[in-house]
Amino acid sequence: MKVALITGITGQDGSYLAEILLEKNYDVWGIIRRSSNFTTSRIEHLYNNESLFLKYGDLSDGSNILSILNEIKDKYKENLERLEVYNLAAMSHVKVSFEVPEYTGNIDGLGTLRLLESIRASGLKDKTRFYQASTSELYGKVQEVPQNENTPFYPRSPYGVAKLYGYWITVNYRESYGMYCCNGILFNHESERRGLTFVTRKITKGLSKILRNEQDKLVLGNLDAKRDWGHAKDFCYGMWLMLQQDEPEDFVLSTDENHTVREFVEKAFKLKNIEIIWKGSGINEIGYDKNTNRELIFISEQYYRPAEVDLLLGDSSKAREKLGWKIECDFDNLVKKMVEEDCK
Ligand code: NAP
Ligand code: GDD
Repeated sequence: MKVALITGITGQDGSYLAEILLEKNYDVWGIIRRSSNFTTSRIEHLYNNESLFLKYGDLSDGSNILSILNEIKDKYKENLERLEVYNLAAMSHVKVSFEVPEYTGNIDGLGTLRLLESIRASGLKDKTRFYQASTSELYGKVQEVPQNENTPFYPRSPYGVAKLYGYWITVNYRESYGMYCCNGILFNHESERRGLTFVTRKITKGLSKILRNEQDKLVLGNLDAKRDWGHAKDFCYGMWLMLQQDEPEDFVLSTDENHTVREFVEKAFKLKNIEIIWKGSGINEIGYDKNTNRELIFISEQYYRPAEVDLLLGDSSKAREKLGWKIECDFDNLVKKMVEEDCK
């Protein structure tokens, strides 16, 4: 019996990963947080699948995580050949982490430890393969370009620092207890399901609202940051590949090309026949429609970060060679898919 447990199943990546694993006939267990509102819109289409099991839980609550693992152990008993645990739950917004640094450390750092300790305490250690959602934010103020598995880390936010703990505790449990633990160091990946406060989705959603006259302008922060943006579906498939190897290792997943936020804006608007021209600089910069002169893009310091990650560019040659991983959706197609979906 192939069984997987996904923390963060209601998130962008959790929803794609659940689809991939259900397609492969896994029993998929997902942890969802209690909320006063529905948070399950990304996985509602999977509800009728009898192999999907949803449990309430939170990475701040170690006893809850342990009881979920014990429930899995009791349900499958000796039929449990292997349990794949994908730790995707996190306070994942870099800017917000400056406002809730302690919470971010608790969930993104210590939450990883709680999960690893619960796996040990449940007695499932030898049957479990563990994936940790590590991030290119670890490279922060980059020490070399491009970044690969050997590039030194220099995180630039409470989020990055918390994820650094998550990274090393994962390595430590691999080395200390012989556990099958992998870090996926994933560069930015987006999709039609991306949260609305991340820059790519903010742009494509903003564009769609401007076109429908529901919003008159788009207010952004740093336009010159460079990111290595891919599609989440490709990256979630890579997570699964990492847990299918003979030996546990850490892998970078990236498209190996990068673009500025400014380029993303220009490309998205161009798809709807709006050519953006820029005037002014810094917080006074404005992007306007070349044809109509209508001012559409404005800058606000509100979206600047106390410390910025200026440039990320991955080198995923290890994953491409060892895992046979590849990108199906390139940058142009990513922007197109997101614009089309939001403008439907
Ligand atoms: P996301 O859309 O923000 O999803 C985060 C998930 O974590 C949601 O399901 C959220 O639940 C859950 N969560 C948050 N706090 C929790 C807590 N205290 N206990 C239990 N669950 C909690 O993030 P994503 O883009 O899918 O990313 C998945 C993971 O990969 C994250 O760990 C992120 O840091 C990491 N990562 C992402 C990228 C990227 O570009 N997307 C790149 C590198 C690494 P709610 O739905 O209730 O909020
Ligand atoms: N969110 C946001 N909103 N970012 C903006 C805005 C804005 O209005 N304007 C400019 N930016 C810039 C940010 O300053 C940053 O340089 C870049 O756009 C990307 O920001 P986000 O989309 O918020 O993503 P991120 O790169 O900070 O973090 C994402 O990728 C990481 C992997 O590198 C998240 O998914 C993290 O969880 C993930 O680890």
